Amino acid sequence: MRFDIVTIFPEFFGVLDISLLGRARQSGVIELGIHNLRDYTHDRHRTVDDTPYGGGAGMVMKPEPWGEALDDVIESADDPLVIFPSPAGEVFTQRMARELADESHLVFGCGRYEGIDQRVFDHTQTRARMKLVSLGDYVLNGGEVAVMAMIEAIGRLVPGVVGNPESLVQESHEDGLLEYPSYTKPSVWRGHDVPPVLLSGNHGAVDAWRREQQIERTRRVRPDLLPE
Ligand code: ADE
Repeated sequence: MRFDIVTIFPEFFGVLDISLLGRARQSGVIELGIHNLRDYTHDRHRTVDDTPYGGGAGMVMKPEPWGEALDDVIESADDPLVIFPSPAGEVFTQRMARELADESHLVFGCGRYEGIDQRVFDHTQTRARMKLVSLGDYVLNGGEVAVMAMIEAIGRLVPGVVGNPESLVQESHEDGLLEYPSYTKPSVWRGHDVPPVLLSGNHGAVDAWRREQQIERTRRVRPDLLPE
């Protein structure tokens, strides 16, 4: 799986050198390309934004550097999917993470300021598959944090990234419910006991208890996830 990121803050993605994804990069399971949008400007100040046509607060990212950066990344790729993080996009979910983990090449374009000139999206759509994706119903200062979250959620689903694939199956959202609570030794800690069923050795009872906990938790915290 290859990820390319276009951003004005390449240093932001340094953390992808560490932990699980860092190891996946070292082993070659994941390839990462980070591109500084300012490298595609041609003025002394490396300008990437300008005032909006029609007036209004804030600045808009200029189309020309985006056009050149995406030309560079898309032209060297075989059927990439281009994703622009945006609060105006489709909401990112575990289901979307699974679908995106089946792609071989994702290109992320991180907007800043009040957004990117609309023609960048209109044009990109004529030459590649493209999606606007929102992390949730709140506003971030730019796309970088959203892209980090998406890469972490997608990357860990790529075969070979997480050592024990079993652990992916048991998590929140994988079966549409929140995950059950987990415990480890000691069996009593600061007066709190581990639920006795987990010490019973009865696997059927453990599975049933965990399922009940998932349903109870989901009903309490996220009733919107439960079927009617
Ligand atoms: N950029 C700014 N806010 C965002 C959000 N909620 N999701 C994705 N990208 C964003």
